[in-house]
Amino acid sequence: MRREIRITPSILNADLSNLENEISRVAGVSDLIHLDIMDNIFVPNFTFDFEQATTIIKSCPIDVDAHLMVADVDRIAPAYAEVGCASVTIHAEAAQNISSTLRAIKKSGARAGLGIKPATSIEEYIDVINDVDMFLIMTVEPGFGGQKFMHEMMSKVRRTRAIIGDRPIWLQVDGGVSMETIAEASEAGADVFVAGSAVFNAQDPAVMVNALRDLAISVAD
Ligand code: DX5
Ligand code: ZN
Repeated sequence: MRREIRITPSILNADLSNLENEISRVAGVSDLIHLDIMDNIFVPNFTFDFEQATTIIKSCPIDVDAHLMVADVDRIAPAYAEVGCASVTIHAEAAQNISSTLRAIKKSGARAGLGIKPATSIEEYIDVINDVDMFLIMTVEPGFGGQKFMHEMMSKVRRTRAIIGDRPIWLQVDGGVSMETIAEASEAGADVFVAGSAVFNAQDPAVMVNALRDLAISVAD
């Protein structure tokens, strides 16, 4: 089965003072826009509160993929679906009740994602697989853009792909994805690629999105 490849630029390192313009540079060629929500508790960094995020989500011309790096995730995740995110990802390490929060996200109309940090193993979460629309394997420690891709996460990506089997579950990687690393991640079985600095530091972000997708497709089975 040929996997569909999706590219979702992260606006974390884009020019936040001119966000609408930054998003418009990639909206035409991207599958989703990746919105990193950090609370300075689950990760040592802060991005947007819910009100600020809602403004971005409502004005975004394409689907939003919210990545919630927040401690209070069971309470807040369904609200991100309600304000229009196409996909909402929670972290397994933060959630108190993973299944019911994933179900609440879906009930509110979004795809439900389950993310894990580099030190967390995927095998612990096989029992919730029926509530998952997307697994997110972090390829950096969550918190900051521009970090180095962790090649050692590729065995986890491979194992997750094997666990997914024929289920229509997306497999996302996030952190350090670039022209140097995307082929390796695609070969390992990822099909949704977050790219922040690689896209927004490029001379032409839209050209970079297409180049990343083409490279990922060229090695995908
Ligand atoms: C890191 C965030 C990522 C980050 C990716 O915690 O979840 O989405 O923005 O940025 P790059 O692609 O620069 O590693
Ligand atoms: Zn992210």
